Amino acid sequence: MIKKQVGIVGCGAISGIYLKNLTYMFKNTYIKAVCDLDKKKAEKAAAEYGIEEVYTLEEMLADDDVAIIVNLTTPKAHYSICKKALEAGKHVYVEKPMCVEFEEGRELVNLAVEKGLMIGAAPDTFLGAGIQTCINMINSGKIGQPASVMAFMMCPGHESWHPDPEFYYEKGGGPMFDMGPYYLTALVNMLGPVESVAGMTGMAFAERTITSKKKFGKKVEVEVPTHINGILKFKNGVIGNIVTSFDVLGHHMPRIEVHGTEGSLSVPDPNAFGGPVLIKTRYINDWEEIPITIPYEENSRGLGISDMAEAISEGRINKANGKIALHVLELMHGFHWAADTGRNYNLTTTF
Ligand SMILES: NC(=O)c1ccc[n+]([C@@H]2O[C@H](COP(=O)([O-])OP(=O)(O)OC[C@H]3O[C@@H](n4cnc5c(N)ncnc54)[C@H](O)[C@@H]3O)[C@@H](O)[C@H]2O)c1
Repeated sequence: MIKKQVGIVGCGAISGIYLKNLTYMFKNTYIKAVCDLDKKKAEKAAAEYGIEEVYTLEEMLADDDVAIIVNLTTPKAHYSICKKALEAGKHVYVEKPMCVEFEEGRELVNLAVEKGLMIGAAPDTFLGAGIQTCINMINSGKIGQPASVMAFMMCPGHESWHPDPEFYYEKGGGPMFDMGPYYLTALVNMLGPVESVAGMTGMAFAERTITSKKKFGKKVEVEVPTHINGILKFKNGVIGNIVTSFDVLGHHMPRIEVHGTEGSLSVPDPNAFGGPVLIKTRYINDWEEIPITIPYEENSRGLGISDMAEAISEGRINKANGKIALHVLELMHGFHWAADTGRNYNLTTTF
């Protein structure tokens, strides 16, 4: 098998699992080079995984061997690095959110088409065993006709554990742009594209105090809503609710439930790859766990990149693709726009 050569830009908190999986788990990827504004981080990654080159971004883009740029920088840097990569003739896979502004996302997707290149975006968790099992359950009619869906991602924020959590409270951050991609990508892959959304937003704390070790005690001004309630109308008529919040200390809400005319499906954490998947139909008294028979239950981050490498070889479209990511980006903006204007937002994208 010919491995596709990958260059990783951004060697921060999330890079470890990509470095590991693209080196050891997937057989069709090879990390040729790493790059970070903080060269020490790139050098550490290169030393740990025996990576040939520690490059600047320009050096990486000039290396003809590198076919795919994996952009693991913070959201504000996503657009410019993806754009430069596409302009340099590289396929690109970017961590979520695809970028901050919707129009920038549209530009990236169009640029990829124009250049005959692929753009892909996290999350790729929907390709894992858990969500794929749910998709099979829905498509095979196990819960009848889906009618509604509920999704809840609520937590106290990330300043207690992330070493550099400031970006979660800057433009491009907030719980919807941070965690919404997992939930919304799962929802649209299970239920199809969305037609319109409504939204309301709030912010319980105007300032946050970092309690993780490196920056303990540092105050962060909150620039974005930290509690977002969204209502979705899918094209197939399903009605959905999503709540994403950094303002909740604890709760008992499910992550995702899909309710159909014949039963209900309890969907596992869309920020992970495995189960459990549970079903309750009108013919059974209690919830039953569905056995998982599909691969990728473990942490398989990078699966979307391995699929992109395969898609390049096979001349097909990658699964965690830019069109889906753009639809999700538009949804996230749509909730905020609806909250700001008091009107429903009609989606302009589909996939
Ligand atoms: N930390 C997590 O658990 C997690 C989980 C899933 C997804 N993500 C996503 O992954 C991305 C990165 O998050 P993180 O937590 O690793 O952040 P981080 O701040 O720990 O790391 C980002 C790295 O990118 C580098 N960087 C920034 N701009 C750059 C540029 N222009 N050129 C080269 N390097 C640059 C920084 O120096 C830093 O080392 C974000 O989009 C985030 O939403 C993070």
